[in-house]
Formats: sequence, structure tokens, C-alpha cells
Amino acid sequence: MKKYYIRTFGCQMNINDSQKMGGILKTLGYEPAENWEDADVILVNTCSVREKPDQKVLSALGDFKKIKKKNPDAVIGVCGCLAQRAGYEILQKAPFIDMVFGTTNIHHLPKLLEEAQSGNKAVEIIEDIDENETELDKYPVVRENKYTAFVTIIRGCDKNCTYCIVPTTRGKERSRRIGEILQEVQYLVEDGVKEIHLIGQNVTAYGKDLGDVKFWELLYAINDIEGVERIRFTTGHPRDLSEDVIKAMADLPKVCEALHLPIQAGSDRILEAMDRGYTQKEYLQKIELLRKYMPDIALSTDIIVGFPGETYEDYLETIKVLKEVKYDQVFAFKYSPRPGTPAENLPMTEDPKTLSKWLNDLILMQKDISFEKNLAYEGKVVEVLVEEQKEDGSLVGRTRTNKLVHLEGRNNLLGELVNVKITKANRFSLEGKTLKDINLTVI
Ligand code: SAH
Ligand code: SF4
Ligand code: F3S
Repeated sequence: MKKYYIRTFGCQMNINDSQKMGGILKTLGYEPAENWEDADVILVNTCSVREKPDQKVLSALGDFKKIKKKNPDAVIGVCGCLAQRAGYEILQKAPFIDMVFGTTNIHHLPKLLEEAQSGNKAVEIIEDIDENETELDKYPVVRENKYTAFVTIIRGCDKNCTYCIVPTTRGKERSRRIGEILQEVQYLVEDGVKEIHLIGQNVTAYGKDLGDVKFWELLYAINDIEGVERIRFTTGHPRDLSEDVIKAMADLPKVCEALHLPIQAGSDRILEAMDRGYTQKEYLQKIELLRKYMPDIALSTDIIVGFPGETYEDYLETIKVLKEVKYDQVFAFKYSPRPGTPAENLPMTEDPKTLSKWLNDLILMQKDISFEKNLAYEGKVVEVLVEEQKEDGSLVGRTRTNKLVHLEGRNNLLGELVNVKITKANRFSLEGKTLKDINLTVI
């Protein structure tokens, strides 16, 4: 059997696209290779959100080039956001690549692969959105996790934040039809999936382009599907997070009490320069509302440090928000100018060394807050979906609030929702015992 290897960079959208590409290749008779050295097809699914991922892609390609020595017929393909934005440039820098395609024509992979295997360069980058892109949705996915699955509900983004490349690499917002989403969820449930994770660059904008359906209505519809045990969604935009959505989250038993709500910066001046469409106060009001409806909700966010024009005072506003909200998790990065974005040529106000210090200080401070949040779980009983068994036999699962929990191993718990008493909090995970095990010990 021929083998494939996919290296994925970037966000949930790319992960799901890679799972679909695995599905396409499976349909074509391929199986996954353990190592890239054994593959007949290598695909690099790229991200372009900051400069670093761009560089990582080129260095990975440098490694993969070596496969041609061992297997001259092997095909190396590059796809994803960097390919969409700069596919021809990558081809120039790495001329050994056989195949390049963008983010909206992934369903053409069979045709492109055939072309590449016949010895031609297979390059297809479509500027506009491919009109048949939803063909991709018909393919199965190859997932590592048996019990949780991503479902793409909306593609692209209309927000045009001034620093962001995503609207260029992913195009305008396109919501998938509700019937098709529900059908995919149904199929996944039949395949043993317990947790449905709805994804998009901006899921809270779901339905705007369809006219008569709202994101919260989709949540209700999925909650009604028998066999679905948990629902999550990523990423919501603060501007589109309405009280209706928050109410639905609180009202629907299957929707988990966890939300990733990127703020990006605390200073109103910087938020305006980023064109985020909210002030610090408006953002904090949404957090207050979330906590009013769901007092135990776990919150996470994204931060950009050093957007052009950001002063130390502006940065302190971000720190203030982190101290006030006390997020469970924060993903913080230094600002990186992206080609063609409105902010690209704005002058930087601080030198890179100062920005690194700001970023490190912020990460250190948040580390303590995250630990404090985890410590509050000690002694509590929480519901855990057991997702994986490690080689040493131990089990790993997640709470509804998306915390990783390590448990003593027992095969028959895989895929089960169990009540777990948390015995120890670590910085990045929790440890616990199932209530059943505790009762056994007592007896
Ligand atoms: N759609 C999501 C996030 C998409 S990109 C949202 O709006 O929240 C993921 C994260 O990458 C962003 O939240 C942002 O924090 C970061 N990011 C995007 N462009 C960036 C840039 N030019 N420099 C640094 N970080 C960036
Ligand atoms: Fe980028 Fe802003 Fe869209 Fe998020 S909302 S993908 S940060 S443009
Ligand atoms: Fe990266 Fe594209 Fe996602 S730029 S963050 S992989 S949408």
C-alpha cells in the first residue's frame, strides 16, 4: 500500500483540512506513514499568520527534500495559507516541490496528485474562492482522536483586523448549510464521536451570509442530536458574541462551559488601530455576562504584544485586563508585520528586545494565574471525557472546561464520560481518580 505523511502548521482550520486530506488519500488507497521517510506523498499544510511559521515551513521543506534520494518518485506538496498567499514564491525557493495548491481547492488533490505523479509540476492557486469548494466536505476525515472531532461550519473571515493575513489566505466568510453540518455530525456520532468541536475563524458570524439562520440556532440543533455528548466552538469574535449565544451556551446541557475569546490588546487606542470593533469596557462587559450565566466558565484569549504604536502604558492596559479577567489560558505573541495587510508598513514604536521583555513578563505573570486556576480544582469532582490511553497505560481526558486530566488506566473507560475527583493540580494539567476507583479503595 502507498503511504502518505502530512505535516500541519497553524490553527484548527488547517488541522481539519489535513484530516480531510487524509480522508481523500485514504479514498485513493493510501495509508498513513509512521515517518516521513517512508512516505510516497508528503504534504506540508502551511500557516502564514506570523513570520515564524513561514520560516518553519521552509526549514521543514529542506528536510523533506531528502526523501527524493531514497524514493525518487515521492511527491512533495505544499498547501494551506502560505501556499495560498505565496505559492509561486515557495516554488522558486524550493524548486523540488511537485505540487502546490491553495485553501479553497483542496478537493482537487486527486487530480493534482495524478498530475504530479506523471512527472509534471501540479500548481493550482485560485485567487477567488473555488466555486465547488464544498466538495471537500463530502470526504471522510482521518482523525487521531476517536472521541472528539472538528466540524468546519464557516470558512474565511470578513473582519479585516489591520494586522491579520487570514482574510487574504482564507477569503470572505462562507457559512456551510445547516443541513450539511447536521448530517456530518450525525455521521461522526455513528463513528463513535462524543464531542463535536465546531470550528471557523469567526464562528459567531455563522449564518450571516445565509440570511435566516443564527449561530445559536445551530447550537440548539446540534444539542438535539442523540449521541452528541459535548459541544465546543472555536473561535468566537467578541463583537459577534451576542447575549443569545451566551444564553444558548448556558441553557444547552451539551455545550461546554469554556470559551476562547481573543481580546488581542487592552488599550482602546490599540484596539481601534487594530480595527477590532470593541473597547476594553465592551469586551469586559461580555466577560461579565458570560460569568453571570456560567459562573464556572473557563476562559482563554489571544494577545498581540507590540502592535505598531503600542506604548508601555498601552501594554499595561493588557496586563490590567489579564489580572482582572484571570484567564485559564493565554496565547501571546509578538506582533509580526504581514504582507499586504493595512498595518504592514506602520512604524514599530519599540525595539524587538523591549517587546520580547514585555512578552516574557506577560507570559510569566499568566503562568501563575493559570496555575492558580488549576489549583481551584483540587478536591472537586468533575466530568471527564476519557480520550486516550498512553503507552504506560495511564488515561488522559478533558473536563468540560477543557482541562487535561491524567487518570489511572483502565481500558474500558476509553470514550466514557466519568466523574473524577481531582487529587492534584499541575501547571498545565490535573490529576484525578474516578469516583468508582475511590469507592473501591474505600471498600
Ligand atoms: N479569528 C481569530 C484568530 C485568528 S489568528 C480571532 O479573530 O480571534 C490567531 C491569532 O494569531 C490571533 O488571535 C492573533 O492573536 C494572532 N495574530 C494574527 N495576526 C498576527 C500578527 N500579524 N502578528 C502577531 N500575531 C498575530
Ligand atoms: Fe484575523 Fe481578525 Fe479575522 Fe481573526 S477576526 S481571522 S484576527 S481578521
Ligand atoms: Fe495560520 Fe491560516 Fe490558520 S494563516 S492561523 S493556518 S487560517
